[in-house]
Amino acid sequence: PVIYFVTPTYPRREQIPELTRLAYTLMHVARLHWIVANDHDTCTQYLIELLLRFGIPYTHLASPMPSKFRNNKPAPRGVANRRAALQWLRQRNITNGILYFGDDDNTYDLKLFSEIRETQRVSMFPVGLIADYAVSGPVVCKGKVVAFLDSWVADRRWPVDMAGFAVNLAYMAQYPNANMPYKPGYEEDLFLRSIGLRMDQIEPRGSNCTEILVWHTQTKNKKAPTVRFSREYLDERSNLGAL
Ligand code: UGA
Ligand code: MN
Repeated sequence: PVIYFVTPTYPRREQIPELTRLAYTLMHVARLHWIVANDHDTCTQYLIELLLRFGIPYTHLASPMPSKFRNNKPAPRGVANRRAALQWLRQRNITNGILYFGDDDNTYDLKLFSEIRETQRVSMFPVGLIADYAVSGPVVCKGKVVAFLDSWVADRRWPVDMAGFAVNLAYMAQYPNANMPYKPGYEEDLFLRSIGLRMDQIEPRGSNCTEILVWHTQTKNKKAPTVRFSREYLDERSNLGAL
């Protein structure tokens, strides 16, 4: 089966380096379709050119966060993007393949891809560098998932990270209302509830969830400052008729 690797991304200074780093991982993976969903109104030329250069089969979606959520704290990051990808798959009636939500800033071991490709319904595995415990993942007993370890369980039935599971699209197709709500912190839980997940169906991966094959790395981000030009630069620009 093809892996549909869904990557929410958004315009900021770190976007191109993050996507470049991720692309050089995905280039090593066969039978992968990269759905790059950008949090922006339109498909932008710089992303079109960047994505073409990698040579990875891909789809570029423009999936802006609805403006009513923009100023929420916390805002529902990556949700409009993932919803657009789900809609894209549904509209094309793609029911053969594996769905994985892979954020643009995480770090992926190539072994992850062979592990998730065999997903029958829903597979799960630990994610490194999550919050205080530095790991979030299923607790496995006699080959079955029985509980979860996570720094923030809250009242979630499925206290897992977005990067900690994969779904078979044929299984998901049985749930036409599968979706991800705009509810920060609860996206994974409510998505997994929307596909009728049961504990005894979960397929543990990575040697019964003892291996970490994906990390929730975060790039230190910096806001672009107001750029000040030197006097000589401004003079030169005005000589050129640019100002
Ligand atoms: C954590 C989880 O790992 C995410 O899966 C989850 O979506 C997120 O929290 C959340 O619920 O807010 P975290 O590292 O805190 O992730 O968040 P980011 O990596 O900043 O954002 C998650 C994804 O959404 C990224 O792929 C990012 O590129 C994208 N994003 C972020 C947007 O599309 N728009 C934004 O305004 C911010
Ligand atoms: Mn992140």
